[in-house]
Amino acid sequence: MFAGPFDFSIVKRAQEAGLVEINFVDLRNFGIGQHRIVDDKAYGGGHGMILRVDVLEKAVEATKDKRLSKDGEKVVFLGPRGKTFNQNKAFEFSKLKHLILICGHYEGIDQRAYEFADEEISVGDFITTGGEIPAMLVTDAVARLIKGVLPKRVVEEESFSKNSLEHPQYTRPDTYNNLKVPKILISGYHQKISNWKQKKSEETTRKLRPDLLKKAS
Ligand SMILES: C[S@@+](CC[C@H](N)C(=O)[O-])C[C@H]1O[C@@H](n2cnc3c(N)ncnc32)[C@H](O)[C@@H]1O
Repeated sequence: MFAGPFDFSIVKRAQEAGLVEINFVDLRNFGIGQHRIVDDKAYGGGHGMILRVDVLEKAVEATKDKRLSKDGEKVVFLGPRGKTFNQNKAFEFSKLKHLILICGHYEGIDQRAYEFADEEISVGDFITTGGEIPAMLVTDAVARLIKGVLPKRVVEEESFSKNSLEHPQYTRPDTYNNLKVPKILISGYHQKISNWKQKKSEETTRKLRPDLLKKAS
């Protein structure tokens, strides 16, 4: 599942440049018995299977980087009950040396496993089949913020980096069906263009996401 998204574009280049290393841990390697069982039925009944706490803890312990302090590493569950992931969280994770993301599947994870996780992160108020797609999303958003992956200027101008949305963007043609590119953008006056971008970013944020401005203030 992960091969496509991580083998493409910015995340691929970040790995090739040695700025990001992504490893996959197969829980089966820590499974119980001959069949390497990793999950079981829920106590008290219910649909689907639950990932076992003992299997998960063994996998997490084997994956941790023993050289790192507590501040350098985090163990994070992907799950719908967690705090909603956002750009600030992505920035926070991008400063870590090691981020362990745990993907649930089927019905979820034994509650006792939350004892050894640092936090639970949700990608929104909806349910995905497993934690894999949420993990890809978090990895992508974090990887592009790691120092050196993108120019600082690009990251700073992007939506959410300063609790605001990016200014509108245009490219050729200059006129399309009577719709014109703002004259200022083709004027060549760099300072004026920069002021325009700032103003439009504020206007767009006020119109589309006024909640961000409240956060900024
Ligand atoms: C089908 S879901 C389980 C949902 C769970 N039974 C519930 O109702 O809360 C299986 C796995 O997908 C992942 N998942 C589902 N929705 C998610 C979300 N919004 N954010 C992050 N992970 C999610 C979690 O890892 C979860 O353990």
